[in-house]
Amino acid sequence: MKAKKAAAEQAVTYIKDGMTVGLGTGSTAYWAIHGIAALIKEQGLSLRAVASSQSSEALARELGIPIAPFHEVDVIDITIDGADEVDDRLHLIKGGGGALLREKILAGNSKRMIVIADESKRVETLGRFPLPVELVPFAENWTLNAIARLGCEARIRLKDGQPFVTDNGNWIADCSFGAIPDPASLAVSLNRIPGVVENGLFAGIASSAVIGCEDGSVRELHRSERQ
Ligand code: A5P
Repeated sequence: MKAKKAAAEQAVTYIKDGMTVGLGTGSTAYWAIHGIAALIKEQGLSLRAVASSQSSEALARELGIPIAPFHEVDVIDITIDGADEVDDRLHLIKGGGGALLREKILAGNSKRMIVIADESKRVETLGRFPLPVELVPFAENWTLNAIARLGCEARIRLKDGQPFVTDNGNWIADCSFGAIPDPASLAVSLNRIPGVVENGLFAGIASSAVIGCEDGSVRELHRSERQ
């Protein structure tokens, strides 16, 4: 917990007065949302936010963070979000909490995405964590078979014995590919399958990462323009 909180507290220092901020989802983003609320309450910053899930929006409202309607926002200045895996090139696996579609929409409309994570999320090559893929529930076995043909074992995520339903009314397939050496090309192949809505590979999207350690220290990684 200390590591996630430390990473989140460092990341929110990049937020400046007047910014529009994208709120991530999950147990690490939880601390960032608290940090953003503190910037408003304790430092008097004027900020507005958009959220990547119903749960993050509810938390933000509870903490007094103004939520802007999407049609009033042209571009997000900074999105701060967690990840399930982060590699050296800052490619990510996301979606462990099932919010990957909205998270990718926010990140894709942000000038800057800062990923926050504890050290356990750092990997050399993505793929140890089963890749979440959001799919429509219609004829889902066909979509699942097409995903599996790309070289993985794909299973519909369950919650209390029933398919887990995303904020968008879709389902999630957790896909065990093993090592994913080329996340950008796998992301394209997955999204070509009819029935797939979005996948949890964030390749070349995060601009920096703040990695927290249990002793409360943090390490920052910045994506080089050449990657
Ligand atoms: C939510 O769908 C995810 O993408 C989360 O950002 C990711 O699973 C990390 O979550 P934690 O911070 O809870 O580990």
